[in-house]
Amino acid sequence: MADPQEVLAQRVQSAIGAAFGPEHAETDPVIRPSQFADYQANAALALAKRLGRKPREAAAEIVERLDVGDVCREVEISGPGFINLTLRDEWIAAQAQALLSDARLGVPVQERQNIPIDYSAPNVAKEMHVAHLRTTVVGDALARTLEFLGHNVVRQNHIGDWGTPFGMLIEHLLDVGEDSEEAQQLKTDPNTFYQAARAKFDSDEEFSARARKRVVSLQAGDPETLRIWQGLIELSKAYFNRVYSTLDVTLTDADLAGESMYNDMLEEVCRELEDKGLAVTSEGALCVFLDGFTGREGKPVPLIVRKSDGGYGYATTDLATIKYRVAELKADRVLYVVGAPQNLHFRMVWETARLAGWIPDGVEPVHVQIGNVLGSDGKILRTRSGKPLKLMELLDEAVQRAGAVVEENRPDLDAETRAGIARQVGIGAVKYADLSVSHDTEYVFDFDRMLALTGNTGPYLQYAQARLRSIFRKGGADPAAPAGTIAIGQPAERDLALALLGFGPAVALVGDELAPHRLCGYLFDLAQTLTAFYEHCPVLAADTPEQRDSRLALCAAALRILVQGLDLLGVQAPEQM
Ligand code: ARG
Repeated sequence: MADPQEVLAQRVQSAIGAAFGPEHAETDPVIRPSQFADYQANAALALAKRLGRKPREAAAEIVERLDVGDVCREVEISGPGFINLTLRDEWIAAQAQALLSDARLGVPVQERQNIPIDYSAPNVAKEMHVAHLRTTVVGDALARTLEFLGHNVVRQNHIGDWGTPFGMLIEHLLDVGEDSEEAQQLKTDPNTFYQAARAKFDSDEEFSARARKRVVSLQAGDPETLRIWQGLIELSKAYFNRVYSTLDVTLTDADLAGESMYNDMLEEVCRELEDKGLAVTSEGALCVFLDGFTGREGKPVPLIVRKSDGGYGYATTDLATIKYRVAELKADRVLYVVGAPQNLHFRMVWETARLAGWIPDGVEPVHVQIGNVLGSDGKILRTRSGKPLKLMELLDEAVQRAGAVVEENRPDLDAETRAGIARQVGIGAVKYADLSVSHDTEYVFDFDRMLALTGNTGPYLQYAQARLRSIFRKGGADPAAPAGTIAIGQPAERDLALALLGFGPAVALVGDELAPHRLCGYLFDLAQTLTAFYEHCPVLAADTPEQRDSRLALCAAALRILVQGLDLLGVQAPEQM
């Protein structure tokens, strides 16, 4: 099965070479979707300029040498020199047919890269918030998609499991008892535990002195302190895993690579930076000053790698992450799916790492910036009472609301089946809302909109595939083994077949641009094309058995693409809705 745009690009390119000589054989043919044909090739315009020719003349020379008889029904020069290309119905049908027997549904296998992806990264003994939700959902979609494209994805869940707060957390855990109910609270409601520790730390001097001493023992590797610390991590892990399984996210304990993992590297990181003359002591702290990073009044902003008290911070750890991921994980690309406000941090860390020689040419760290999720007031999403939102409560509400919709639409189903669908739809809606807009833009969290059955929403796409499944159920046909041969009669059949061929390129684009919303956009367009198709082309009530089978074959391909596409996004596909 072939991507039409690529086939046309190759053909036009060789025509350019034949027309203007080998020195132009590499010219980008600039194939774009067209309003007047399926595609247009725009290369003649730039080429003509370079050659000092009239664009229409250059276009004519290309067309004269263009060999697309098997692919195109019509080739036409229009406007200032566009080449309009209209595909043959038989060619489209044959490609769609080939798609049906392609396990990859036209998705290319890309040249394998090692790609560590840093995502989710919540903090131990703290509630996950909506920003963590979004990096989790976007990171997981990227991990799934890049894996499907053939890459070696290494999930890195950089949890916040180290630092000064652990002094007070450990002391508080000892105070309440490691086996107490309060301790168990960390599994469900970490914030309450954290705030209790914090309150004592702020008001009780004896406690805060103990907490500070405890930090020192933790950093010194005192075995008993480490044991209690490990207990905190275990309790938090239970909380994270509950969120991940509710969200149907692929992260497991094996993917944990928290801040503490880098402890042993930090001293060496600082020493190397000093040896290379990159880090200098300033007001007692070890700092890196980088060109181009200045704050107010042009004052240089330091990247602090060792505080004046000898402690290491977030920046030092991230210097270690890039070093480790390049040297040990042999990364070709490193993705950090983290909130947009941390962009300055990453730029400074990577600039430092580059100067230190830890990021060789050809290796590319990328900050996949995550935009804020806002409430209807345009501010960071909070509860109505103004408190930070509890993630599990948010997800529960989504499922509950979806349940109300399912109950209304499907009173015929039993309660258990309805509850299962509600879970898939509610969670799918929340995840899809995070994915369908560009990851770096802000968006307003709105239950009504994300749960709507119309528009670019999770439920709309889930419904589109459920409707296809029901056609197969009603027709007693097996979508896994469609019998028919795809033939194109109606324009709506042609549109659908052509839309199916766009899946592979759409998935490849997500991998190249790290932009899951591109796949959402593609799937949404496909679902709309399907709606138009049903309107004009009855499937089970087709005119002839051949037509019925052909349409069922188109439906089978569409169903597989929708299910696969949703799976790459991490959104489930209910059997019925
Ligand atoms: N734990 C951090 C936070 O909650 C995110 C960590 C992101 N990853 C990293 N390598 N810095 O903001």
